[in-house]
Amino acid sequence: MCGVTSMSESVDWLADGCPYSHRFQDRYHSCTGGLVQAQGVFLRGCGLPQGWHGRDHFTVLETGFGLGQNFLATWAAWLADPQRCKHLHFVSVEAYPVAAADLVRAAQAAEAGLRDLHTPIAPLAEELASVWQNLSPGVHHFDFSQGRVQLTLAVGDVAQMLPQLDGVADAVFLDGFSPSINPDMWSAATLQAVALLCRPGTTLATYTIARRVRDGLKTAGFSVKKCPGLPPKRDRLEAVFIGSPHSGT
Ligand SMILES: C[S@@+](CC[C@H](N)C(=O)[O-])C[C@H]1O[C@@H](n2cnc3c(N)ncnc32)[C@H](O)[C@@H]1O
Repeated sequence: MCGVTSMSESVDWLADGCPYSHRFQDRYHSCTGGLVQAQGVFLRGCGLPQGWHGRDHFTVLETGFGLGQNFLATWAAWLADPQRCKHLHFVSVEAYPVAAADLVRAAQAAEAGLRDLHTPIAPLAEELASVWQNLSPGVHHFDFSQGRVQLTLAVGDVAQMLPQLDGVADAVFLDGFSPSINPDMWSAATLQAVALLCRPGTTLATYTIARRVRDGLKTAGFSVKKCPGLPPKRDRLEAVFIGSPHSGT
């Protein structure tokens, strides 16, 4: 378990523009870029944007807010979708919030070189950065897009914060650092706590296919499927909550 403070987490920047955690000695996202990973692993893996079509409310739960790329990509996909749900609620847990300037820098870096962006995320990152201050441990709420997009950020260790959340997730993004160096984010207890916030049919996506993650998800009641990954990764994981321990791939 980690010791959480209200100081901003410092971010290192690699030569290829990727944000890097000195604390965990890992990249915040794969070298394909944060936006590409958000779209290709997390949104796609959870069946979004189609999953929220026709819905009044839709809730995404994330472990590891990091530089907010998944949140910004989800918000951008929602803005770009004429069939979007009426209200989008994004709930995320983060032990070490970064500085506002790093959210903006990461969004700009994620967009660099990408063409055909329906909705750029850098302006959304500026909006997020404008309300991102004094992130002391505890639960914080932010409203965007005239209150139709809500961000709930639980600042603290995942083991302590997940049980404090209520509501039901329609989709889950598991985005800790690599399981070998950040085991708390993928532990059986964490996956069970995630499952308690799911309903039958909740979709889940992550970039890792580590055995212990697949096994933990199955024990927590998910049906798990390996899918072709974003190069250079060969695989990624999609799962659906079925509510009882499952023995799939
Ligand atoms: C891969 S990064 C997340 C990237 C993020 N989803 C994005 O879109 O930018 C993993 C995040 O998990 C956070 N983290 C690591 N261990 C944690 C813990 N025990 N509890 C809560 N957050 C943790 C790290 O601080 C880091 O921001």
